[in-house]
Amino acid sequence: MYVCNCFGVTEDQVKRHAEGGACTPRQIASACKAGTDCGSCVRRIQALLGRGGYPRPALVAVERDVEQGADPEEQGLDQDEAAAA
Ligand code: FES
Repeated sequence: MYVCNCFGVTEDQVKRHAEGGACTPRQIASACKAGTDCGSCVRRIQALLGRGGYPRPALVAVERDVEQGADPEEQGLDQDEAAAA
């Protein structure tokens, strides 16, 4: 199923890029241009990234630090990001 009709990018292609390390819509755009024309697919890409459980490297590091007892607010995270970590 196409996620980005402008560039013919499929859901599977986005997932593969995400597994390869692209964990934001901007990184997906760099990898395959999806989201760089009309932009109507960016929310779908965001949803795929969120649903697929592709963690942002920074949040993985914070999660590790929190598990070790660090305060997430000291690391500049707001409540939503800390909750997501
Ligand atoms: S549908 Fe993806 S940029 Fe238009």
